[in-house]
Order: sequence, then C-alpha cells, then structure tokens
Amino acid sequence: MKLSGRLIVIAIFLSVPLLGETPLIANVSARKTISLDGVWNSIIDPYETGLSSHFYENAKPKTKSDLIEYDFDRSPKLKVPGDWNSQRESLLFYEGPMWYQRYFSYQKHEHTRTFLYLGAANYLARVWLNGKKLGEHVGGFTPFNFEVTDQLADGENSVVVEVDNTRRADGVPSNHTDWWNYGGLTRSVELVEVQEAFVQDFSIQVAKGKPDEIEAWVHLNGAPTMPSTIEIPELHVKSVGEQDKPGWQFFRIKTKPELWSPDNPKLYRVIISTGSDRITEEIGFRTIEARGTQILLNGKPIFLRGICLHEDAPFRGGRAFSEEDDRTLLAWAKDLGANFVRLAHYPHNEAMVRLADQMGLLVWDEVPVYWEMNFENPATLENAKAQLRDVIARDHNRAAVALWSLSNETPISPARNAFLKSMADYARELDKSRLITSASDKAEHPDDQHAALNDPLGEYLDVIGLNEYIGWYGKYRPEDADQMQWAFKYSKPVIISEFGGDAPFGMHGDNDARFTEEYQANLYRHQIGMLQKIPALAGMTPWILMDFRSPRRTLVGIQDYYNRKGLISDRGQRKQAFYVLQKFYLEKAQEKH
Ligand code: GCU
Repeated sequence: MKLSGRLIVIAIFLSVPLLGETPLIANVSARKTISLDGVWNSIIDPYETGLSSHFYENAKPKTKSDLIEYDFDRSPKLKVPGDWNSQRESLLFYEGPMWYQRYFSYQKHEHTRTFLYLGAANYLARVWLNGKKLGEHVGGFTPFNFEVTDQLADGENSVVVEVDNTRRADGVPSNHTDWWNYGGLTRSVELVEVQEAFVQDFSIQVAKGKPDEIEAWVHLNGAPTMPSTIEIPELHVKSVGEQDKPGWQFFRIKTKPELWSPDNPKLYRVIISTGSDRITEEIGFRTIEARGTQILLNGKPIFLRGICLHEDAPFRGGRAFSEEDDRTLLAWAKDLGANFVRLAHYPHNEAMVRLADQMGLLVWDEVPVYWEMNFENPATLENAKAQLRDVIARDHNRAAVALWSLSNETPISPARNAFLKSMADYARELDKSRLITSASDKAEHPDDQHAALNDPLGEYLDVIGLNEYIGWYGKYRPEDADQMQWAFKYSKPVIISEFGGDAPFGMHGDNDARFTEEYQANLYRHQIGMLQKIPALAGMTPWILMDFRSPRRTLVGIQDYYNRKGLISDRGQRKQAFYVLQKFYLEKAQEKH
C-alpha cells in the first residue's frame, strides 16, 4: 500500500542518528519510567576545570596522598527539574558550566532496553554514566535520550551531567535575548524501560480532505518485520499495519472521528502495540490549512484569539516545568477568551502542549532563531534544524499544534533569507500537515498613515507573522494606530504576533503616562481598532500574558529585571488591559464567520 509521500518523509527524517544520542522516543509519559528527579549534587565551575579534572569520574581519594580536588557529595544541592538561577540568590545571574551528579540504584531485567531521557538542559549538556561518556546535546528547549542498557550497573549507578548556558554568537539562540537565560536541568530526567522490540514513534491524523479516513504510520525499533496494531476502542477500530520498509508500517483506516477544536477538544484513547510493547495515547483528530488569507480548522475559517507567553513560572518565578505551572498559565489564557497561544520563543515543556490539547487551545510552536544570528555558519543552521526536528518529533501528535514557527525578528539579509528558506523546506519535509510561519518586525512606514510588511521571508511561509509596537517603540503614540492602514506583500493569512507596552501592576496615571495601566489599556484599545481593519487578519497574539524576567529590563522600581508587558503580573494580578482584550475576545467568539 503506497501512502501519500507526506507520511513517509516524516518517518525517514525522524530517524536520523545524532551525537551519541538515539532517536527520540515518543510518548515517554505513557511508558514505564524511573524518575531521576529530586535533589542532585552540583558544582559551579565557571572556568570549566571539571573536564580536565575528570569530574565525570566522580572519583574519591583511595589513599590519604591521593589528590582529588572536587567532591560531589559535599557540594551544594540543586533541585531537578529546575533552573539554577531561581534556586539560589547567588546564582540568579550565573551563566557558565554547572556540574550535576546523583546516584541511583537500578535492577536490570532480561529482554529490557533502557534509555536515559532528559526533557531539556539549557544550553549545552555533556552526559556520563558510571564514568562513561554517553554523548552531548546542544539546545536548551528540546528533549534528548541515550540508550544505556549496556552502561547500567545492576545496583548503584552514578550519572553526571555538565550543563553550560554560556551564550554563544553562533548559538541558537545567539547571545542576545529578551528573556532570562535560565540554566540547568530545567525539565525532568528519567530512565525509560522498553521491550527489546518497541514502538519508537508513530503518527496518526485525519487524511487531508478525507474526514472519514485516518492515516498513520508506526516506526518500530528492534523489530524489522513484527506486525503492529492500532486500536481506537471508542471508534471500534482495530487495524493491523501494512509493512512498507523494515520497521515501518502504514495504516489507512476508514472511520469518522469527532473532530478536535478549541470549542470541542475531543481526544480519543489510541493504543499502539507490537509484540509485547503497548503504548496508549490521547489523540485529537483535526485538519488545519491556509486558504487565501484565511486559516481553516476542519475546513472552516477560524479567527485565532491568541496571546503570547514565555515559559516563566507564575508566582514562584524561574523556568516553568510542571503541569501545575502550565495549567495556571493556560487557564489564564482561557479566561482571556483565547483559543490560541504563541509559545515564545522556544519549545515549552511537553506538558504545556498536552494541556493545550486537553483545554482546547491551538498552539504556535517556535524554535529560538531570534534576532541577530550567525546565519552564514552552517553549524548554526544544523543546530536550528536539529531543534526543529526535535520539537516536531516531540509534538507532532498534538492536535493543538497548528503552526511551526521558524524565527522571531531576524534582520533581513541574503544569508538570513537562505537560512530561513532552508528551515522552511526542512519543516515541510518533516510535517506537511501543519502551517509554517515566522514573526517579522520589519514593517515600513511610507508615511504616518500607512504601514507595509514586504519582508521577503513571507514567500516561504504559509502564514505571515508580524510584530509591531505602534504606541510603544518608535515615534507613534497609541492613538496614531487609528489612522494606520496596513499592506502586506504576500496575500496570505496574517497573525499580529506581537504588540503591547509595559505597565507594572498597580502603577496608575493618565492615558499618556508611560508605564501606567491606563497607558497600556489605552494602547490595547487603539491597537484592536487598527487590527480589525486588516482584511487578511486571521489572528493575533499580543505581547504578552504574564510579566517575565529579562536581563534587559533594568528600570528600577518599574521593571526590576522584568518585562512588564504582561496583561497579568508575575503574581497573578490582572491589569486593566487584560479586561480590554477579554471584552474584545468574548465579542469575537460570538461572531459567526
Ligand atoms: C520583541 C521580541 C520580544 C520582546 C518584546 C519586547 O518584539 O520579540 O521577545 O520581549 O519585543 O520588547 O518586549
């Protein structure tokens, strides 16, 4: 059975071996795992002496004359998951190498393979088990895993991870961002146990243009010819795959699922099994496409009532990582009347996108190609592509994820355009079922009543993202938005992916007094008026849901290292502008398309 090219291509690309890493195991949360979260020993190592001093051996002096100049057991502790910056005042601004170590006991079993899975480590991670190097990973916001079946000891084991969040000009992101460079093992670390033959990954979705048909593939690891089965009990589906290539099976299943949408986030329990391996997933079935200047969900036009958010934890601060953190943030977005969230500017933790599936929020998923980057450097492009591949590998089964975003506010140049074209082509190779976008801030004003976005990047995109700060940055006041007529070079759906202004909660004054809630609310009113006049407007994600930490925001008594453009303070207090946008979204939700 020859299935459409779009599935096969996904399969091939998701299976490329990496730096000591092994292809990402899908759906870890539904597998047998042993958590390594908790308190780890840690050594701050600003001069990275740990490599030449072999910290990874976790050695102990054997005789009184032995010279060992480190001792994890007597070193300070850090909690995992969690960034180190918000765990100790002395580490708030620390950027550099940090060594993590912990012991764990493990019992080996027959016919079991074991992987060490790290949800994320910002930025560069080197990993050792029992003194043996497993490999390295670059990129602070995507998961990675290593097979450790042979390295594991039956009994006590010691894992050492060096994490270095030093910013790099050729990094992704590079060395300038408007968010806190939280370092560390920022997401869970666990051992994943699977059968010798197991389901490495799978994809299942409604066939494009065929609402009564589901297409799927299953990729098996260690079982080139073993059959696999997909069951959807609620739809009375039980289907055996058709072998295409060793380890790959394809499915075309006649069934008519209830379609997922923000108003009806219907998820089906799906069971994928092969031999003795069996995983259960929650899947929403839906189609997303662009037609002219409209975005269609399940074939019908939808307006994306959105909001941007950073992965900052409400109330306690630091990098968010728990379902509780995520649920608080997404519930606030729902209260706003949103049906869409832009997860800026990097892949947020997996629980965030899974909750968006459950709560009915469409998602803009982005990789941190942000501002100036080393676009000429092929290694930077490879790095960006690897992060794109990994976020797609992790989130490609989430109905909520509608758009892959390649970049944010990058300067126009031939090297940049080529870089992003290559990223767009790669994204489409990996996933033809979603929309490709990027956020540009390169609008021009031929005069004070007109604005135009002619960024050549638009050619490679399905949806145009525009960041504009009329009323905050630049010469225009909020009310100047009333006269502003927008034009777009490409006749494609437009999402205003950022606008906004800073206002600490509780700071009050006249509408034209900067940094007051009145100024921010006034800006929102004028923005909403202006945007509604854009014919191709398919959605918006104002900047931003909640105040977030940023090393660029130094204004004492107002910013105090927080970007205050949130509609909600980092302590959960709602500003006037929250209600301005909420009122607009609730009205918009009533509108018939
Ligand atoms: C930019 C950028 C954000 C930043 C925001 C701001 O547009 O994309 O990352 O935080 O503006 O200046 O507040």
